[in-house]
Amino acid sequence: MTLSKRVTETPPYLFHLIDEKRKAVEERGVDVISLAIGDPDRPTPDFVLDIMKEEIHKPYNHVYPSYKGEPDFRAGVAAWFGSRFGVELDPVSEVMAVIGSKDAVSHLPFVFLDPGDWALVTDPGYPVYQVAVGFAGGRVSYVPLRAEMGFLPDLDAIDPVVADSARIMFINYPNNPTSAVADRGFFERLVAFARKHNIIILADNAYSEVYFEEEDRPISILSVEGAKETAIEIHSFSKTFNMTGWRIGFVAGGKALIDAFLTLKSNFDSGVFMAIQRTAARALAHPHALAFHAERTMLFRNRRDRIAAVLTDLGFTFQLPRASYYFWVEIPSSYQSSVQFCADLLEKIGLSVTPGVGYGPSGESYFRISMTAPDHRIDEGLQRLRAFAKEYL
Ligand SMILES: Cc1ncc(COP(=O)(O)O)c(C=O)c1O
Repeated sequence: MTLSKRVTETPPYLFHLIDEKRKAVEERGVDVISLAIGDPDRPTPDFVLDIMKEEIHKPYNHVYPSYKGEPDFRAGVAAWFGSRFGVELDPVSEVMAVIGSKDAVSHLPFVFLDPGDWALVTDPGYPVYQVAVGFAGGRVSYVPLRAEMGFLPDLDAIDPVVADSARIMFINYPNNPTSAVADRGFFERLVAFARKHNIIILADNAYSEVYFEEEDRPISILSVEGAKETAIEIHSFSKTFNMTGWRIGFVAGGKALIDAFLTLKSNFDSGVFMAIQRTAARALAHPHALAFHAERTMLFRNRRDRIAAVLTDLGFTFQLPRASYYFWVEIPSSYQSSVQFCADLLEKIGLSVTPGVGYGPSGESYFRISMTAPDHRIDEGLQRLRAFAKEYL
């Protein structure tokens, strides 16, 4: 068997590796607490399940879906986008369904990159960005995200020659793994930068509905004048309604960009199960959606504050998360490697968190804690961390 370089030169997916390590430790009888992966511990809310119960019995939902997404899905998304972000989208030409946002993230580079083309990828960042660029034959130019800049990229520091040769740039606010949010001023500068250098911005807004204070409510890059021609925004229902397993999201942007993506996607897959599309669209407009989000915000704000109190007490350095599920924390100064620190936490106290280097070279001195575990498991994890700090730090 001869495998492609695409496969042989790609390291195993970070979260798959973490899962394997956790299982190996569990097989030794250790009760591992996983604060590693961003998969909500709460189920999909009942009001969404009730809609699905109706949709799944409709035979017209059982056949091949349209490639772009069903018209009522796209109409539902456009209506929600208008009320949520104040952005008018044409449901016919400016919205397209995807099989979770990972579908969009992993396939969009194929739309814009020819082999050898450059892509700007924020570092740290969701690992799929750089792998997808590589799969498409592109080359990654890292744009560092630094704590002192609020984990926003310093656009002025990007070499103009690199910027001129880049075709795409991945951006993700609210950000995984740093939990930073971006304001309108940043998005305006970003759109100007993209237009100047002829770059398509791939704006991953998967966490748009997971934030803790009203003043940090995420906005859409598409609300910036001229953005539709230079940006595609990527959305997910995974985090919005605890629907990670359902695999549904959407992309929004100008017609030319969506048409280009459709050319690729219609050859790659056959769309999202229509019952799921229709359930998702109806969920967006459902009267219970607001209450669900308010309750979820309270839950995560509460977890965030409890974790922050313990980390502060133990002397860890971090910025208080403003959105998403994550704490991005500096590893103790006695460690040189994030992998080593995380391996020690797993081995010595059965706590699974993610090494920052998995998100890019800038992450080497960080680790990521996810808040998506039941409260009592988080508390137990924090107690174990206390014990670890007492004994080893
Ligand atoms: C930043 C970011 N984008 C996209 C995804 C993919 O989400 P999904 O494919 O479930 O929509 C994730 C998942 O964790 C993520 O963290």
